[in-house]
Amino acid sequence: MIKIENQLFHLQTKESSYIFCVDKHGKLIHLYYGQRLENDNEEALGQHQIIGVGSSVLYDKTDTTSSMNMKLLELSEPQIGDYRVLSTDIWSDKQQATDFKYVGYELDKVFQSDLPRGHEASERLSIYVEDSLTGVRLELVYEVFYDSNVLSRYLVVTNTGIDDLVISNLGVNVDLMNDNFELLSYHGGWIREAHEYVNDLGMGRSVIASTTTSTSNQHQPGFFLRSKDSNDVYGFNLIYSGNHMSVIERTPHEMVRVVSGVNPETFQWTLKSNERYETPSLIMSYSKGINKVSQNFHHFINQHLVPKPWANKERPITYNHWEATFFDYNEKKLLKYARSAKELGCELFVLDDGWFTERNNDLSGLSNYQVDPKKFPHGMKHFSNKIHELGMLFGIWVEPEMVSEKSELYRQHPEYALGVRDKRYGRNQLVLDLTIQEVRDYIVLNVKNLVEEYSVDYIKWDMNRHISDTESLAINHGKEFSHRYILGLYDILERIFVGSDVLLESCSSGGNRFDLGMLAYGAQVWSSDDTDPIERLSIQGGLSRLYPLSVISAHVASELSQQTLRRTPLSTRFNVASFGVLGYELDLTYLTSVEKKEIKAQTDWYKQYRKVFQFGLFTQHNNVWQVTLDGITIVGIFQKLTSASPPSDRLRVVGLDPKKLYHVSSKPQRIFIDRYKELIKHVIPLDINPSGKLMELTNQYFSLQDQQQELIASGALLEAGIWLNSQYLGTGYDKQLRLWGDFGSTLYVITEKENTL
Ligand code: GLA
Repeated sequence: MIKIENQLFHLQTKESSYIFCVDKHGKLIHLYYGQRLENDNEEALGQHQIIGVGSSVLYDKTDTTSSMNMKLLELSEPQIGDYRVLSTDIWSDKQQATDFKYVGYELDKVFQSDLPRGHEASERLSIYVEDSLTGVRLELVYEVFYDSNVLSRYLVVTNTGIDDLVISNLGVNVDLMNDNFELLSYHGGWIREAHEYVNDLGMGRSVIASTTTSTSNQHQPGFFLRSKDSNDVYGFNLIYSGNHMSVIERTPHEMVRVVSGVNPETFQWTLKSNERYETPSLIMSYSKGINKVSQNFHHFINQHLVPKPWANKERPITYNHWEATFFDYNEKKLLKYARSAKELGCELFVLDDGWFTERNNDLSGLSNYQVDPKKFPHGMKHFSNKIHELGMLFGIWVEPEMVSEKSELYRQHPEYALGVRDKRYGRNQLVLDLTIQEVRDYIVLNVKNLVEEYSVDYIKWDMNRHISDTESLAINHGKEFSHRYILGLYDILERIFVGSDVLLESCSSGGNRFDLGMLAYGAQVWSSDDTDPIERLSIQGGLSRLYPLSVISAHVASELSQQTLRRTPLSTRFNVASFGVLGYELDLTYLTSVEKKEIKAQTDWYKQYRKVFQFGLFTQHNNVWQVTLDGITIVGIFQKLTSASPPSDRLRVVGLDPKKLYHVSSKPQRIFIDRYKELIKHVIPLDINPSGKLMELTNQYFSLQDQQQELIASGALLEAGIWLNSQYLGTGYDKQLRLWGDFGSTLYVITEKENTL
């Protein structure tokens, strides 16, 4: 996997190669990243620059081609004539470390890291470089995740001298040649996370960064470069949960440099003698086509990042009462929901915000861990037992990084809250200073107690504001704060969750901290506070470019969306949520008996195909989503707005064996008749007042079977596309019509028919 010959380093994954060498000046020259190669040599791989370009600063005055600005480099350094974006800025005793030269390498070095990393790398290579003037030594670490087609890179600096080192910037750079690249990146905000934006990679610098002291719902750290000529795609993402920055620079000589790491705008670090500083890992993957690169990332996250017990473990179906109740609940009400959720097929009951003292709204109570005796007169152990007796797992919400002014902890220790100069509020709350050891101990103790005392199976770890007052009395330099906060968070998560089998779902006002760092501790993330399935098409569509469906939590909520006021059918709410970790979050009290029946049918069906949905190979094209595992393929086709007399459309399936025969069938789903109001008289021979009591009653006990299509087709034909039953055309009713209208959708199951053509 790592071949080393005459200072040429060749890192191979199953399907890709990454190659660099050491040149005569001791510099690490990047040679190739792309489709897997076997035996190509340096001569064939290298740039053939015969003479220098104008305006260059030469590294070696006797060599006109030694301008560092024209080379693809593994390490970007200041002051040596490289004028692209740089990723190293380290100072020792007023001297900047600038000229790192190769000193050697080591294979499979093992060390403990303070930051989350991928586990079980197939092989690890450490390259050492040193700046002779300052004596600063860097270690460039390359990890090969062979089976995932993923490489991970990070840097380590150890202060071996006696003077302090000051690091103002340290990140990984990856240099490539432009290939008519587009940049695909993911941006949003609360209830509109991770929408995909595709732009031609412009000349100059494109920046993706966060300053919220979280990865943020505004700018996802992961992105792709896709060639418009060759369909080569390079994907990048950081294993980090704090302020990040990636700069993608395209130069007029059509070189592309990616620099990625902790955001230097909010960073500086003093490294004392013998201390070590590490950068977060940049993971990257190359393949043809974006779906393949996404699948590589999915594989890496499932197999090499989430806590090991969750690698291939199916996630339970959740019921969470938040959208149904907000803070207005008590034990009796919740047990009613739990019993109902159990009957509907849910497996995990999540008790959300509001269970502890002083918490009847979001004005007070955060950091209290005492159970509210008014809401739970028999205590939490009793409640947890009741849930377990129902045969459900018991989950609980916490927001441990936060404190309300009205809380026990704040009354005793106001100094634990951030805000040395001023205190600024987000959702009426302050942030605990995780750089303080006692604060971390307080959180670890309380969350661990909760887990043990109440036999908690699942924790929803929330964090509901951006951080503003980034100063701390506990540390000397303000610019160290943001990174130290995240190191504090990782320390807490490590102490609570490593070695425990509690399922951790990370959440931050929905998807404000959806990142690879959190996934190293918890196997799922609440993707968004937006449960409108049509919005979710963009949110889950964007997230699933970077993260597997097994970590994307997705709930079915009420017909009328609380976030958008859009009404959508139950079938579409389920169809979208099933491409993720399914849950329900609607008020179960007012479900009609036909809705209950349909939800039970949904959870039964999901359980049958859960493995395919959570761990299958996922591809997406516009609003067609496909998952495949062990010979079963499921395709979801989603419509946003309909048009009058919509044209016929086709079901296309990718990745099948062209020679085999497949059985195609649509998932049965019900249509609730009140959606069709007065038009229903064309279906059932009764003239019912569309707003009357009879309609209300009929709607409770009677629903229509949606059209069902079933046929046998070859893989080749399915790849070309088979025609679907036509949609409603305004000309009449037939039970074989797809009555989609706005926001309609259908799932199709494609399975191998034994005999081949
Ligand atoms: C955040 C979460 C929600 C819910 C509330 C509770 O907004 O994203 O799911 O837990 O907090 O206050």
